[in-house]
Amino acid sequence: MVKAVVAGASGGIGQPLSLLLKSCPLVDELSLYDVVNTPGVAADLSHISTPAKVTGFLPKDDGLKQAFTGADIVVIPAGIPRKPGMTRDDLFKINAGIVQGLIEGVAAHCPKAYILVISNPVNSTVPIAAEVLKRAGCFDPTKLFGVTTLDVVRAETFVAGISGERDPAKTTIPVIGGHSGETIVPLFSQAKPSVNIPADKMDALVNRVQFGGDEVVKAKEGAGSATLSMAYAGYRFAEKVLKAVKGEKGIVEPSFVYLPGVSGGDSIAKTTGCDFFSVPIELGPNGVEKAIDVVSSANENEKKLLEACYTGLKSNISKGIEFVQNPP
Ligand code: NAI
Repeated sequence: MVKAVVAGASGGIGQPLSLLLKSCPLVDELSLYDVVNTPGVAADLSHISTPAKVTGFLPKDDGLKQAFTGADIVVIPAGIPRKPGMTRDDLFKINAGIVQGLIEGVAAHCPKAYILVISNPVNSTVPIAAEVLKRAGCFDPTKLFGVTTLDVVRAETFVAGISGERDPAKTTIPVIGGHSGETIVPLFSQAKPSVNIPADKMDALVNRVQFGGDEVVKAKEGAGSATLSMAYAGYRFAEKVLKAVKGEKGIVEPSFVYLPGVSGGDSIAKTTGCDFFSVPIELGPNGVEKAIDVVSSANENEKKLLEACYTGLKSNISKGIEFVQNPP
């Protein structure tokens, strides 16, 4: 029996993500938590004729405890999204506290659950989550994931726009580093099957993957950031975790993880100087089986992008850790 929780379930990402999880045959119980509207979202989804049993909870009546108890996987898209002109780091003030509170809930009620953090800035909210779990004595680095799948999905889509491949997801592209602007580093030289990107198109392509989220923020004119594509990406990653748990082998997808805590991660942490970093990880029945080193085989151009990534990412990571260690 698999119990999945969506925390932030009534939001722009939370609702379509909950719909996708309700459609997933791997989920038996779907528990929706938010500070508003979950009874309505749960009632609506509960009429869909798939096996998952849906319940909705609000903070009142010990709702967080009820929602989280017994969860196997907790997906967190709670928190405010960007408006035009904002960076992901601008969200820190509000979202840091929201993520901290929800992770305290995980530690108290479902400490063994897989945790998928979507709330931005992911570069800082995942270190916050790790720090909270460490303090509660239940940090398992093989089960904590920052969801960077949308960057991968964008890279696949934008490359297909150049290569003409009909099905974008047929090309695997490692997108590594962090999840904001220059910390996002697509390694097109390691695409499989290989892709031929004309030299005069490369810079614009890299830039589009790094700042693709801004296109959506601008087009939505103040109504938020990516929600539908993010729900797709979040679901794609959650489904991979669940399939690996059920025993499927060879599942690899990049995710932002705590490198020193996972097999193969130490040497990547040494090369990058970053303890939290997104790299392709192989998933297994207990979460991360191993981190795959694609950093050392980056080409010269990609190494330059990585240098810029390390600087920004290190400061985002410290900011998250500092938030828990020395509360403002
Ligand atoms: P939204 O504002 O539409 O939804 C957020 C939901 O979180 C709301 O329903 C709100 O009531 C709920 N919420 C607030 N505080 C809460 C708490 N303490 N407990 C439970 N729920 C709480 O925002 P949207 O568009 O769904 O975005 C959510 C987050 O995802 C944002 O931080 C956004 O930046 C991030 N995001 C991450 C992406 C990624 O690639 N990792 C991509 C796009 C967005």
